[in-house]
Amino acid sequence: MKAIIINSFNRNDKLIYTELPVPTIKADEVLVQVKALSVNPVDVQTHGGTGISGRLKDQFPIILGWDISGVITAVGEAVKEFKVGDEVFGMVNFPGHGKAYAEYVAAPAAHLALKPTNVSHEAAAATTLAALTAYQALLQQGKLTQGQKVLITAAAGGVGHFAVQIAKHIGAHVIGTSSAANKDYVFSIGADEHIDYNTQQEDKVVNDADLVMDNVRSQDFAATIKTVKNGGTYIKIPNGVPDEMKQLAAERGINAFFYLVQSSGADMKVLADLLGKGILQPNLNLYDFSQMELAHEQQLKGRTRGKIVVSIKM
Ligand SMILES: NC(=O)c1ccc[n+]([C@@H]2O[C@H](COP(=O)([O-])OP(=O)(O)OC[C@H]3O[C@@H](n4cnc5c(N)ncnc54)[C@H](OP(=O)(O)O)[C@@H]3O)[C@@H](O)[C@H]2O)c1
Repeated sequence: MKAIIINSFNRNDKLIYTELPVPTIKADEVLVQVKALSVNPVDVQTHGGTGISGRLKDQFPIILGWDISGVITAVGEAVKEFKVGDEVFGMVNFPGHGKAYAEYVAAPAAHLALKPTNVSHEAAAATTLAALTAYQALLQQGKLTQGQKVLITAAAGGVGHFAVQIAKHIGAHVIGTSSAANKDYVFSIGADEHIDYNTQQEDKVVNDADLVMDNVRSQDFAATIKTVKNGGTYIKIPNGVPDEMKQLAAERGINAFFYLVQSSGADMKVLADLLGKGILQPNLNLYDFSQMELAHEQQLKGRTRGKIVVSIKM
């Protein structure tokens, strides 16, 4: 099968297209013929020696990628839920070795859900790591409920655009940040208020958010924590919360923490339902498997609206 590997943690080294044996599957796994996959910041971060490179450092050659949608071609003997021919999607083995940049992926059945039949493989592949992050952070970790006020930074990005749609769907009051270029888009996916981070300071606009989902690495913690009400919740997605900021938050009864997304077939089923009903609408930036370098270049720019998705045509 065709696959893309890296042999070093160095972004200057090109991605390597190669031929590898089709993976063998364990009893609890299925073999998925990949039709589309999506790219995340963690792919390029890991290639550059950050991201989850520490967890993968003994596993060269590394096949990057975690997000797939495709068709099952073989089923492990312990798998009861899926059969050959089923169309499935999910985030495979995160935060481990996902091996998604390939024509075939061995995936734990417990990480997958059936793809809604009315949705393309590209849209399904988009609605995986970023959507799980939004869902798990907002609803499971942040316990966001109807009527609450939520501030979502980088609302036009992969995680942010799903977060806005999920928060709106449950009836929260949603404030999203982006550049002016994405203002109309952020409103179009359900935001009630918009903050242009280039011209407005968030803490001058909001000081009573029940929950802040902060998707921007460079965000000024000291300022952003002021947007959370006393006793509220602040979830940092790109990196950890420094101890001094945890202290600042604790003084106001704010629960401030980093959250790392986890593979979950149960959560994928919830996303499949929302996707099939059109409640989640991923914005797609499409590439072909031969264009992975271009897809990575776009990811590195950090300005993507929605998701970068790569199709595999056999
Ligand atoms: N902890 C976890 O489990 C987890 C999971 C997923 C992602 N992450 C991390 O979370 C971050 C976001 O991921 P992503 O997939 O959403 O990235 P992404 O799709 O690459 O984000 C791109 C978006 O960021 C926006 N943006 C850039 N700078 C901004 C700023 N200063 N303020 C507001 N928006 C800004 C851009 O909007 P404009 O063009 O309008 O500026 C663009 O739409 C990354 O650092 C990623 O590594 C962590």
